[in-house]
Amino acid sequence: MTSTPPDPPAARPRVDSRSVVYEVYVRSFADSDGDGVGDLAGVTAHLDAVARLGVDAVWLTPFYPSPQADHGYDVADHRGVDPLFGDLAAFDALVERAHGLGLGVLVDVVPNHVSVAHPWFRQVLAAGPDDPSRGRFHLRPGTGPDGRRPPNRWRSVFGGPAWTRLPDGAWYLHLFAPEQPDLDWTHPDVRADLERTLVFWAERGVDGFRVDVAGGLMKHPLLAEVRRGEPHPHWDRTEVHDVYRSWRRVLDGVRPGVFAVAEVWGPPERTALYARPDELGHAFAFEVLQTPWSASALQRTVELQLAAHREAGSLPGWVLGSHDFERVASRVGRERALALHLFLLAMPGSFTLYAGDELGLPQVDVPREAWQDPQALRSDGEQLSRDGARVPLPWTPDEPACGFTTGTPWLPQPPGWEAYARSTQEQDPTSPWSVLRHALALRRTLWRESSATVRWIDPHPGVLVALRGEAVAVLNASNRPHRLALTGWEVVASSTGVLDQDVVPPGACVWCTVPPGVVAAGAGTVR
Ligand code: BGC
Ligand code: MG
Repeated sequence: MTSTPPDPPAARPRVDSRSVVYEVYVRSFADSDGDGVGDLAGVTAHLDAVARLGVDAVWLTPFYPSPQADHGYDVADHRGVDPLFGDLAAFDALVERAHGLGLGVLVDVVPNHVSVAHPWFRQVLAAGPDDPSRGRFHLRPGTGPDGRRPPNRWRSVFGGPAWTRLPDGAWYLHLFAPEQPDLDWTHPDVRADLERTLVFWAERGVDGFRVDVAGGLMKHPLLAEVRRGEPHPHWDRTEVHDVYRSWRRVLDGVRPGVFAVAEVWGPPERTALYARPDELGHAFAFEVLQTPWSASALQRTVELQLAAHREAGSLPGWVLGSHDFERVASRVGRERALALHLFLLAMPGSFTLYAGDELGLPQVDVPREAWQDPQALRSDGEQLSRDGARVPLPWTPDEPACGFTTGTPWLPQPPGWEAYARSTQEQDPTSPWSVLRHALALRRTLWRESSATVRWIDPHPGVLVALRGEAVAVLNASNRPHRLALTGWEVVASSTGVLDQDVVPPGACVWCTVPPGVVAAGAGTVR
């Protein structure tokens, strides 16, 4: 028997199922060259601020060569950097700086579709209808007279039919914009190429991946219509798990346990399947984004997620915001948003924090003439303009463009944006930034490694008291102040920024340490 040498000491930051990941929407974070668009060098220059906040890793949204029809989610080359954002050297510098600060780096992979500018799709356009290159996409003849109607009634997520016709008469499938043709995942080239992409970035030093549209890859073989009561013809099909099992083998071949998280929608018992250890390992728990501000609804969401992930052998990936949703501070209000952050940071699992939410940024009402989001433009404003959650960040109060760029920001910052500036918030102990910085530091000792079980104790209407290990998180979702009348509890963090030992105001969340054995001693009733 040969003995394996011990692993070298782990120099790289740890990103795992209990990490806090900070989502950097690269376009909107910081611009280094004055073109008004955030870029990799801008991120690198500001990573110290991210490290000061106290997260474990950054996730970079797509910076790959792309015509930017969906702001980078239309990828023309999965293994390069768009000159708009920098080059591979700038990427390497970012990773080096991040690792030096103890931050992991995650990149986005976009496997469901490519850009119309991707060489594979260009080949489709250039070659004749019988060219085998068409097999990498979903191309079909139309229906109706002269094939003038699309092959089926599938709809694009961004509005309108999911099909567009080529000049030669064939139709191609795009679940998103027409500039984003869907790949056919039964084609071996598609699988092989994406696996090459994973290896490319993992070998280049990234610590993990966020997998875009993870549930969309597999389509019904006959492209059947959507029918109630039947498995959906293109979302969350069971065959997709085979893809992720093979990715896990590939990733573990580079470095065991490389982090990967699925962007996937559906009921927890379905989405948690992507988080199985032999697949991606993690999946976003988006439900909280849709859960009303109610103690019982929040408790139920948490319980269902925990149960589904326990079954799958994983922990939930909590999310309160992203570049695709209305800003949480506008959705539930700024105080409640901070309370929800504290509440979920106390729960077992990982947490993804969307850049700007730590500043309490609101959703911006971007003027229609400035809209860039294909979802808003294609649905003529019927769907949310995601631009409102993508407005470039305010760094300082007194520089042009709040320190984001020396040029003109790609989306206009609204009047009063400087009031949210990070530099000011860092000086104010009660600002959202300071509240979260304090909580993130404390989370490392209080919750990170704590029990994966939550017990709900000390019931009061509208109030959640979650016990995990030797600490509790108290969320007051009622309209009345909640009095903490329990001996030996010490408030150590509060979403209000003030450590009041007696009262949790409505809309606030506090963390308390509790004496060992508090439950057994009858300090509260377990419900
Ligand atoms: C991304 C969106 C993008 C879509 C298509 C989503 O899940 O987060 O920003 O528009 O995938 O790639
Ligand atoms: Mg730039």
